[in-house]
Amino acid sequence: MSPPCLGRNSQERVASNVRIGPIQLRNNLIVAPMAGVTDRPFRSLCKRMGAGMAVSEMVASNSLLWGSEKTIRRGNHEGEVEPRVIQIAGSDPEMMAEAARYNVDKGAQIIDINMGCPAKKICNVAAGSALLKDEPLVAAIVDAVVRAVNVPVTLKIRTGWSKDTRNALRIARIAEDHGIQSLAMHGRTRACMYTGEAEYDTIREVKRSVGIPVVANGDIDSPEKARFVLEYTGADGIMIGRAAQGRPWIFREIAHFLATGEHLARAQVAEIREVLVAHLHDLYGFYGHERGARVARKHIGWYTKGLRNSAVFRGRMNTLDDANLQLAAVSEFFDGLLAHSRELEYVDEGEVALAA
Ligand SMILES: Cc1cc2nc3c(=O)[nH]c(=O)nc-3n(C[C@H](O)[C@H](O)[C@H](O)COP(=O)(O)O)c2cc1C
Repeated sequence: MSPPCLGRNSQERVASNVRIGPIQLRNNLIVAPMAGVTDRPFRSLCKRMGAGMAVSEMVASNSLLWGSEKTIRRGNHEGEVEPRVIQIAGSDPEMMAEAARYNVDKGAQIIDINMGCPAKKICNVAAGSALLKDEPLVAAIVDAVVRAVNVPVTLKIRTGWSKDTRNALRIARIAEDHGIQSLAMHGRTRACMYTGEAEYDTIREVKRSVGIPVVANGDIDSPEKARFVLEYTGADGIMIGRAAQGRPWIFREIAHFLATGEHLARAQVAEIREVLVAHLHDLYGFYGHERGARVARKHIGWYTKGLRNSAVFRGRMNTLDDANLQLAAVSEFFDGLLAHSRELEYVDEGEVALAA
């Protein structure tokens, strides 16, 4: 679907901020929850680079897991710019309520309920997007969580279970009736997983039918697409996941474009190098040097994808276990880029390899 011409009121629409209960967001650009990605270092970075809110990786509602290192780390929001949002996943209303209380006690300012994740691990225990099949259970979970805490509760869903059962509209009404303060919608069904293109018609329909803020999600990867989705769906905000991987500055690019209709100047190699190096130090500090270096690999891969000579660099970098060697390799790679250009230039790696 290509972006059509925008109406006159597009600037008003895109400039509006989102209010979630009593919490006014700085803007309407939200980092999507991504397990294995939206840890505290990444959320903090995206917020510094222009996102108005960032949702944590999901944490299990099963209290037996709360003592695990992984769950403790996922719930760690120390020093993070507000609002602190924790996403919880599970299928038992009482356990979900308990998880919400626990996370609020630990500092969460918004609780987000995951009914959007299609992962087998989550759906096989009838959580995540599997819950969309069972509307009474959706109501029971939302009700229990909303009653359990005195902070706003938000919900993230897909458009339905499959193309034949797109029940997002009914789910949205249930959510609103039971006190959900904002609804994020990924424009795919559970059956779609991540295939095909996200559709925005269902999001538009839902936005027209409920009074709570609606946040549109799915395949938003450029300032133009951001403006199109906001305009087309009428949504109050947008949520960005994969396009922010290795490109956290997409939030400031979108914010600038929405505010002015103009593109920000292309990112400079020197600045992105600084951003990446600071991100790496943050990861080493958060996970420890050894684990941090392993977690960092995928981020380095995303940052450098499409940059000159990056395929060869990534191959080498993935063999390095040591944080200092990793930092040195990154530094060397960026020196190579700077020798060509001050601006970040994405090239077709295949073509570069052929030309070399
Ligand atoms: C690696 C990865 C992990 C994800 N983990 C979660 C999660 O924990 N909770 C959730 O609600 N959605 C999760 N999602 C879905 C995203 O929040 C988002 O809905 C989806 O990626 C579509 O948005 P995008 O096209 O901007 O990436 C995940 C997606 C990815 C790619």
